Amino acid sequence: MEKHWWQEVVVYQIYPRSFKDSNGDGIGDIAGMTEKLDYLEKLGIGAIWLSPVYQSPNDDNGYDISDYEAVLDEFGTMAEMEHFIAEADKRNIKVVMDLVVNHTSDEHAWFVEAKKGKDNPYRDYYVWADPAADGGVPNGLGSAFSGPAWEWDAASGQYYLHLFSKKQPDLNWQNQKMRQEIYAMMNRWIAKGIGGFRMDVIDLIGKIPEEGITGNGPQLHEFLQEMHQATFGAHDLLTVGETWGATPEIAKLYSAPERKELSMVFQFEHIGLDQKPDGEKWDLQPMRAAELKRILTKWQTELGQDGWNSLFWNNHDLPRMLSRWGNDQEYRSESAKMLAILLHMMKGTPYIYQGEEIGMTNTPIASIAEARDIETINMYHERLARGYSEEEILASINAKGRDNARRPMQWNASSNGGFTTGTPWIGVNENYPLINAETVLADPDSIFYTYQKLIRLRKEHPIMIWGEFELVDTVDEVISYCREYDGERWLVVTNFSDETQPFSVEDEIVEMIIQNDGNEITGLKDLQLKPWQAFVVKVKA
Ligand code: GLC
Ligand code: CA
Repeated sequence: MEKHWWQEVVVYQIYPRSFKDSNGDGIGDIAGMTEKLDYLEKLGIGAIWLSPVYQSPNDDNGYDISDYEAVLDEFGTMAEMEHFIAEADKRNIKVVMDLVVNHTSDEHAWFVEAKKGKDNPYRDYYVWADPAADGGVPNGLGSAFSGPAWEWDAASGQYYLHLFSKKQPDLNWQNQKMRQEIYAMMNRWIAKGIGGFRMDVIDLIGKIPEEGITGNGPQLHEFLQEMHQATFGAHDLLTVGETWGATPEIAKLYSAPERKELSMVFQFEHIGLDQKPDGEKWDLQPMRAAELKRILTKWQTELGQDGWNSLFWNNHDLPRMLSRWGNDQEYRSESAKMLAILLHMMKGTPYIYQGEEIGMTNTPIASIAEARDIETINMYHERLARGYSEEEILASINAKGRDNARRPMQWNASSNGGFTTGTPWIGVNENYPLINAETVLADPDSIFYTYQKLIRLRKEHPIMIWGEFELVDTVDEVISYCREYDGERWLVVTNFSDETQPFSVEDEIVEMIIQNDGNEITGLKDLQLKPWQAFVVKVKA
């Protein structure tokens, strides 16, 4: 397999609205991001995945784009964006843009035109359908944000499709002219020197709504091959597709190099482990470590040479893993470091979500008035109407709601965690006096320096990037594996629990690589791992 820069780096995701506010309006912005580039350079990352910064009415915080080639006024200007890309570049950090092309905003010029009538040249850029025989919605397709995926347009007597909010009409990828316009837009971004694209819900662009097909439609890969050829194919860019339902077989279709589609995908199989099998994400069940181990192993071993993994615990759509499956109370530091070690030692490109590197936690809410996220708010009303108790709904919001990850970044112990001098668009977690960047930077044993060390080790040791993965047989709560490369062998040992766990192998330690506590480890036989203990040792091959 040919080697690429995007296999070697660690990527850091910025959610710009919540990263750093530079002008006191309570909203993070591009100048704020630029200010923090030195911090990111210190961490050691090689790329930034930047959630949308484009012009948008913000129905879904920028995932509803009204102009792909203008920057959101609240965030700054295109000149500032170009400056940010150049400043990042100086620090060897590439900027990967979020590409949201399954849908636009209903305020995008194309949709404004399309709504003018059936004969409008832009009409077919979107998905329209006549009412069903009874006058109702064309079919039973639902929106990911509750309710039907069809919205009535009285002026033309047709419905339009929105797999997300009403203000996110779906683009019609069957339309060749529309596709060419998207590619031209992507090329103008590539010309600005960006490092690639993270492709929002890309598995939906092959949809055939009239047949009820949304994900993995028949022409999906044809479109991606066409896009590859028309845009990034000539450049070595990082392209990562968001693909919720992907199995390893499906992932290979996107990322097998000879297919000329994407670098890698985000797969979510492990992410669903605390969701009831027949339920929605809000229907909770306990996560079982044995299952997590099985799924991680499956993805580590099944892609082989036909693809490349992306490794992540967090993003702007997920609750913080430290609160979710770690222990954000008495073992906050240990479990945060354990999660980091477990993830970064696997094969693939690791992603860090802002705040993960300082051990930020979920932020429970006591009333729906504190919620900002459209998905959460819509679900709340839908479930109330369906008879769920308020208590039950709030419990699932606090476990799974997207606002958990969208709270402002905690920079220091000053008011609002140093995120803004004004009133933040969403409340800061009250634990900021304790948990913030300044505090971890001042403590050589902090979570931050575990991340920094993992990133440095990756630069120094090719085994972390290219080594083969092999699971080690242990009790359920211990996740342990080996990496092997070029006659070298590393053993990774992690205790994914609040209890002491047994661990024993015959391997002989050559050298300690990294650990989440200061304890000396002299042998690997008959160990009792402490809660959340994690270490990596080089062993005799
Ligand atoms: C993706 C984004 C999410 C957004 C949705 C619709 O899942 O990550 O934030 O709401 O797509 O664009
Ligand atoms: Ca601002």
